[in-house]
Amino acid sequence: MDYSAKSNKIETLSSRCLVVGVYSGKRAKLSSSGSLLDKASSKAISEIMGKGDMSGEPDSTMMLYGLDGIRAERLLLVGLGKEKSVDATTLRQAAASAATMANKQKVRSIDFALFDNKHGHMNLGRMVRHVVEAVDHSLYSYDQTKSGRKKAQALKSASVLVQRAELAQAKKGVAQGAAIAEGVALARDLSNLPGNICTPSYLASRARNMQKNLPIKTRVLSETEMKRLKMGSLLSVSRGSREPAKLIIMDYKGGKTGAAPVVLVGKGLTFDAGGISIKPSAAMDEMKFDMCGGASVFGVMHAVAQLGLPLNVIGVVPSSENLPDGAANKPGDIVTSMAGKTIEILNTDAEGRLILCDALTYVERFKPSVVIDIATLTGACVVALGNHATGLFSNDDKLADDLLTAGDDAQDRAWRLPMWESYTKQLKSNFADLANIGGRNAGAVTAACFLKEFTEAYDWAHLDIAGTAWKSGADKGATGRPVPLLMEFLLACA
Ligand code: BES
Ligand code: MN
Ligand code: ZN
Repeated sequence: MDYSAKSNKIETLSSRCLVVGVYSGKRAKLSSSGSLLDKASSKAISEIMGKGDMSGEPDSTMMLYGLDGIRAERLLLVGLGKEKSVDATTLRQAAASAATMANKQKVRSIDFALFDNKHGHMNLGRMVRHVVEAVDHSLYSYDQTKSGRKKAQALKSASVLVQRAELAQAKKGVAQGAAIAEGVALARDLSNLPGNICTPSYLASRARNMQKNLPIKTRVLSETEMKRLKMGSLLSVSRGSREPAKLIIMDYKGGKTGAAPVVLVGKGLTFDAGGISIKPSAAMDEMKFDMCGGASVFGVMHAVAQLGLPLNVIGVVPSSENLPDGAANKPGDIVTSMAGKTIEILNTDAEGRLILCDALTYVERFKPSVVIDIATLTGACVVALGNHATGLFSNDDKLADDLLTAGDDAQDRAWRLPMWESYTKQLKSNFADLANIGGRNAGAVTAACFLKEFTEAYDWAHLDIAGTAWKSGADKGATGRPVPLLMEFLLACA
């Protein structure tokens, strides 16, 4: 898709499909761009709307053709809901339904005139970003492992129409939105791949490829190197699988030399069968998504490097499979982490924390400004927050607040959960420094408390994306979350 910003007059723009907003209420009401066009067409639009078929509710659309006085071939009215409550959600919904409709009808390009009101006091750049991201998200289709020729997408370009004075800001928003959208699509593509293709070695080779056309330096640590670093916890997980573990490091240096980097650590379990504490077989296929945290790190690194953000960012993806095998971890086994802490593995299915703890110790060497880990860590987080919000945990209130704000602004929300000392007591072991599970209660919290034991050297946040990283059912597939949240956070840092 090609995205751009323009400041043409909408009445005389020769558009294949011009999109304007309509508000709902007792009677549907045209937005100010809509009113301009109405005047130019001698009230043809308000006459049609008078018939009452267009409600202006979010998701409602109406395509109009051949209006005198307007150059556009098609005028697409999209509902924005109540004028007072237009926000990023309604804007995104409207953009997505317009793009879906235009694409279905094989329209090649689309122009959005949706920025006339200062919706919800959002800044224009961010509104533009939302529209670009929503369009791109709605057009995503997975075809990497389907035979036959790839269906070409009809819709090839989209533009946003703004006032001349806003053009520079809108162009910046378009560039950011397009880069974020590419990062989201990359995360979705990697996440949707099956476990037999997307192995730790495959992820490592994709990370190496990122160096070719982006200012990123990749390093991949082998099991031998991890052994030398004494990553006994991480290696205990991959011992039960024939695929060797990889520790992938992607380094982007856009900031000042020596400036402390933001470090992102993404869980990269390319398949999680549970190990000896094997999972039930229902929906086990979805455990190919257990590398969505890692995939989100790929997506963010891609977007950050493409935008050339003036920041130093390091992405780290510990990657392994978790399978049952003669060499696999057994309940009761005790391993020694890189930090020197011993861990009693009471459940081999709590493997994410076992690979993350060593990666979290490893990243101390980067002297990070902050570390954020992203992981499909617990089913308990899905029980707590459903698929609406990502679970957020942090040892620093400022970092937690910044991430919550970024989630709100990006419409990719998170919600903070506590990590009080009393929860950590649930991780007590009679035989080791720590147990890898804390019992049935507060499972998302005790998992975070486990990680906290390895993050004392820096400000740290943990994002549990078990409920938000993918969808089940008929729409089964990765969402690309929380790439938008992380990008919003990084844009605010830059
Ligand atoms: N990858 C899973 C978490 C998960 C489960 C995410 C279902 C999304 C849906 C993780 O490795 C895991 O198995 N966690 C266990 C922890 C338990 C053994 C303490 C869980 O949540 O059941
Ligand atoms: Mn597991
Ligand atoms: Zn897992």
